[in-house]
Order: sequence, then structure tokens, then C-alpha cells
Amino acid sequence: MPNIVIVGTQWGDEGKGKIVDVFTEHVKVVVRFQGGNNAGHTLVVDGKKTVLHLIPSGALTSGVTCIIGNGVVIDPEILLEEIAALQAKGYLIPKKNRKGEISSPLLISDKAHVILPYHKRIDFLREQKAGRDKIGTTGRGIGPTYEDKMARMGIRMGELVDPELLKKRLEVIIPEKNYFLKTVLGAEPFSFEEVYDVYSELGKKLAPYVQNTSIFLSEAIKKKQNILFEGAQGTSLDVDHGTYPFVTSSNTVAGNACSGSGVGPTAINGVLGIAKAYTTRVGSGPFPTELFDETGEQLRKIGSEFGATTGRPRRCGWIDTVVLRHAARVNGLTGVIVTKLDVLSGFKELKICDGYRYQGKVLKEFPGSIDVLNACEPIYTTVKGWKEDISGIKKFNKLPANARKYLQKIEKLTGVKIMMISVGPDREQQFLLKNPFRA
Ligand code: IMP
Repeated sequence: MPNIVIVGTQWGDEGKGKIVDVFTEHVKVVVRFQGGNNAGHTLVVDGKKTVLHLIPSGALTSGVTCIIGNGVVIDPEILLEEIAALQAKGYLIPKKNRKGEISSPLLISDKAHVILPYHKRIDFLREQKAGRDKIGTTGRGIGPTYEDKMARMGIRMGELVDPELLKKRLEVIIPEKNYFLKTVLGAEPFSFEEVYDVYSELGKKLAPYVQNTSIFLSEAIKKKQNILFEGAQGTSLDVDHGTYPFVTSSNTVAGNACSGSGVGPTAINGVLGIAKAYTTRVGSGPFPTELFDETGEQLRKIGSEFGATTGRPRRCGWIDTVVLRHAARVNGLTGVIVTKLDVLSGFKELKICDGYRYQGKVLKEFPGSIDVLNACEPIYTTVKGWKEDISGIKKFNKLPANARKYLQKIEKLTGVKIMMISVGPDREQQFLLKNPFRA
């Protein structure tokens, strides 16, 4: 049975959440494996919008277990708010079996790291201090939490839910954080009591969900239940493969589906890359095909390109197949899903970037250095657009000829088969070219 990873191929906001939601009818388990509430996955079902930041996008389908894997960083307060909001709408309701045992449709890895208030303060103050050189983070404390994980001074969910362990860890960590906050950032310190009192309470509330989720996943694999691994952000924001240092602090690529959830690579059968029909980016950093003109404005307006997490306007530009080829390579993509194709209806001409001009040379591969990338000029092929509203189309051959040509060109330049096309925000506004869950 196929276990499939879904990743973003650009700078995030490609519409991964919607695609995961659509595919959940084929799976029993959906796992988030990295990132935190810097993500914002928007799902629209029957015209009703739900934005998820931490909970996997399988939450709206009954019979699906949603797992927050060990590779995710968790803000407990935000997670509890998200659980409460979903439960108020009738989702994620725990079930009792005949023996009276309670099973929850949401499980949280005991090894996932916790975002604490000092992480958020450090994130905010560092960005403030950096001024024009800031990364443009979401300010959610993501980077400082991953730093602590690697420095082996993080707090994991298994410790958050155990008041004694939490106390022991905070007694060591808080003085060190306070020293850093005071001497480096000139900020107010935290008192041990204020952090411990609040977080031990949050831990109590989350305790019923916390367990060794790697064991749960291994059982699901044995039972041949399909699993969907849901990535957040996008390949060009990956801490290794993205536009470093203007990246997030985790590996967003498909390889991290394994380490971020506790399964081996042999469990994965396919990797789908989500590609928006044009490109967007939030925050700072290079973006070769960015448009600063009326066309960029139009894309932002028609595509409602404002961050689902921070509300920031997204930078918009043409599709870049250099970026997509890079994503195909580092993720080992077995298929591409193109989203928001409907947004391009009405543009007279569309441009597709297939290479960069750098110091008189033509580059076909995504450069590893942002200094090179910043000096690159995109090389475009211009194609004709289409006028028709395509938001109700359900078959590839019903698309206007120019839309088909646009997609075929992208497929050819990227070298990966397009498996699905999304033509609007609603769950129903999409059609498959090939079902990745059927051989
Ligand atoms: P951080 O993940 O909050 O540390 O932010 C680092 C960079 O990643 C910034 O440029 C953010 O705008 C960007 N980023 C983080 N999460 C997302 C996302 O879900 N979508 C798009 N950009 C994101």
C-alpha cells in the first residue's frame, strides 16, 4: 500500500493542506513531520474555511488518525486552541471502543520539542535587532526552538507532560536563557515560576495525546494502512537546500518525513511535490522571478496572496522551473500537483523561467549561494494565456488549449509527471490525471 510524502516545491504556501485534505480519503494516517505553527494550511470544505497551523490536514476526515511527529516544534497554547476550535466544529472527537478504551484521532509524539516563551521572545528581538537584514520570520519562536533541540537543551513533549521532569529541565535552562536574554539582547528575564506554572498546566491538558508515535506508525505500516506524510513550508525554505540563511530552521524536504516521524525510508513509496502555477514568497531572501509591477499586484489580488499565519502580503512572480527541477532532485519527486491554475485566467501572456543568466553564463541548476542567486537574471519563455474561467473544470482535456500547453511545458521543463491540478480553494475544485494511490 502506498505511503506518500507531500512537500512544497517552492517557498511554501503552495496549497499543500488542501491536497492532503483531498487525499485523506485514501489514507488512514496523516503525519506532520516538521515545522510548527509558522505553517498555515487552509482547507475549504463546502465553502467553509478552516486554517490549521499545527494539526495535520487530515483532521477534517473521520476515521483518519492525525499525528504530530517528533520533527515538529509545538507551541502548547496554540495547539490546545486549535484542538478546541476543531472539536467545537465536531472534528477530532475521541472515540470509546466496546471495552471502554478511549482512542484519540490526534496523537502527539513524546519526542516533539516544545516552543517556550523565551523562544518567542528571542525570535522577536533578534529580528528587531537585525533591522533591514532580518529574515522575516513568522515570529513564532521556531528557529530558537530548533536551535535548542540541536544544542540538547530543548524540552520535549514527554517532559512537558511530566511536572517533575519539566521542573528539573527548566531549573537548568531558564538561568541560561535569562543570561542570554539580558546580556545579548538586553531583554527582560523570565522567572522560573511563571514559566513552570503555566507550562505544567498546559502539559496536563495535552498529556492524553502524547505517546511514542513511531510505534503507532510502525503498527499502521504492518497493517498496510496508507500513510500520508505532510510537509510544511517548501523546498526553497529548507535549512540545507533552501536559500540559506533566508530559510526556516528545519528540513522541509521529503527525506525528513522519515527522521521527523520515526519511520525508515523503506516505508515510503512516493513523493508528491506541490507547485503553485506561479511563485510566491513571504519574508526576506532571493526570489529571481519576483514581479514588482502591475502583474505582480494582480497575482497577489486574484490569488489572495496574504499569509495564512501572519497576514503579510506575499511577494509574487512567474513560475520558475529552475526552482522546480531543484525540488524534483532533492525530494526525489515521483509526481507534481499544480495548484491555483485558475488564478492565471485572464492574463494575456504568461512567462515561464527555465534558466538564469549569471555573469554572462546560463545556469540551468539552482545555485547554492544566495549571492549568486541575487545576481541572477531569469531567462523566460513567453506563452499565450487564456481568458476562460476554469474553476469548475474537472478534466484535463476540457482546459483551454493554452492552459494545457502551459502545463505541458512545465511538465517537460521540470521532468516530473503532473498528477493533479487544482483550480480553486474548495476540496472539490481539482482533478486527477493519475491517482498516486493506485498502481
Ligand atoms: P520561521 O520559520 O518563522 O523561522 O521563518 C523563516 C522564513 O520562513 C521566513 O521567511 C518565513 O516567512 C518563512 N516561512 C515559515 N513558514 C512559512 C510557511 O508556512 N509558508 C511560507 N513561508 C514560511
